[in-house]
Amino acid sequence: MFKSYSDNKKNVMTNNKNNLYKIFHIENYGCQMNISDSEIITSILLTHGFVISEKIETADILLLNACSIREKAELSLTKKLEQLRFLKKKKKVLFGITGCFSKQLKELFLKEKRADFFVEPDHYKEIPNIIQSISNGIKSIPFPRRKETYSDIIPFSNNKKVTTFLSITRGCNNMCTFCIVPFTRGREISSDPNIIIKECKRLYKIGYKEVTLLGQNVDSYEWKIGDSKNRFIKFSDLLNLLAEEIPLMRIRFSTSNPHDMSENVIRVISKYPNICKHIHLPVQSGSNKILKLMNRKYTREEYINLIEKIRSIIPECSISHDIMTGFCGEDEEDHKDTISLMNKIKYNYGYMFYYSPRPGTLSYRKFRDDVPISIKKKRLKEIIDLQRKHSLYRMKKFIGETQKILVEGISKKNCKNLYGRNTQNIVVIFPKKNFVSIGDNINVKILDNTSATLIGKID
Ligand code: 5AD
Ligand code: SF4
Repeated sequence: MFKSYSDNKKNVMTNNKNNLYKIFHIENYGCQMNISDSEIITSILLTHGFVISEKIETADILLLNACSIREKAELSLTKKLEQLRFLKKKKKVLFGITGCFSKQLKELFLKEKRADFFVEPDHYKEIPNIIQSISNGIKSIPFPRRKETYSDIIPFSNNKKVTTFLSITRGCNNMCTFCIVPFTRGREISSDPNIIIKECKRLYKIGYKEVTLLGQNVDSYEWKIGDSKNRFIKFSDLLNLLAEEIPLMRIRFSTSNPHDMSENVIRVISKYPNICKHIHLPVQSGSNKILKLMNRKYTREEYINLIEKIRSIIPECSISHDIMTGFCGEDEEDHKDTISLMNKIKYNYGYMFYYSPRPGTLSYRKFRDDVPISIKKKRLKEIIDLQRKHSLYRMKKFIGETQKILVEGISKKNCKNLYGRNTQNIVVIFPKKNFVSIGDNINVKILDNTSATLIGKID
């Protein structure tokens, strides 16, 4: 188990004789990839003798793990940093920004001396050195040029050892015109499948029951076999290997890209009961004109065909989406195309945003952000309301069914209830029973629903 500040107070005080900063607190400002990165950073720091502080106030290093994919996340990080300024007046504390941040944000924070150091996604292993250097009064140290997969790092997780994330690719080669990821995380690289399998086996052995394989575009996972020129382990092969080698571990993955998802992947999901029946398949827009401007490399028709293929091979598969409204040049007709695509597919759930230009991206440099914010918000509300309707429609179909649920924890709203998820990644809430523990796979009969959760009882 990890050492917390209170267990380790004495040790830390001794370390601090040399004025070394040792107690850290880390906060996330983004997606699953961001949470996974925080687990990697935490693990690196713990193995270098650093100690976690659950509270910001008792930490002497504060790490804010940034996500710059949308303006909103960057704004909330900026606000948080502003709120925490008072800490600097009270004691010696270092502020570090890690993860994906834009060049502009870094320049602003440096100019206004809001943060003490910045660490990009390929340089997390340097964090202990950076902190050591700052403790010794050295202001800047050179970073070695490298591309990191962190496949040699065991991510640290403080949850109840049930479900965790593992990155299988890092970076992205797709260059969607609105997206900052290729600039902040660089070109895509895949991790060695032997290391992924070893790591998943280890996770299973120490008690995890589910792993989510992460990548910006998992379908483009590729690992060259030996010296061969054209023999590769593809994503479908990796899923196959994992499903066979760890048959009792649930396997999820995110994110799939409509342009790269192969029929082989769909077939492997259908073949193995331990591969979860859920695909997160961002569409972004239902209009071919907008998809082209976004450089998404598929058409509305190709996307719909892919969904039809998924549903014909895996009828029970749930499908979720990302949709962005108000992209440059989006008119009422384009918006209607998105609405009609949603009506056709009736997704289980989705994540919806309005477009915010990100400095450095092609759309920021070349296109005019010409949809007024009031229209962006109006269109966003429309698609959110429509998605709620579709979610309710999909949820109702589970009523009366008995579902296999992996128990993940005690419900935050009512401690008499447990929660878990079914294979379709839908949260299910049900009353506790003495014979059921966190980490069990149990049968739950579904009795009721909201648009986001299913409610049931142990069968
Ligand atoms: N503005 C708004 N949403 C964005 N996303 C990515 N870039 C932007 C942006 N500039 C959304 C996309 C993507 C999700 C992770 O974030 O929908 O799929
Ligand atoms: Fe960004 Fe497109 Fe890559 Fe997703 S696929 S990370 S949206 S560039």
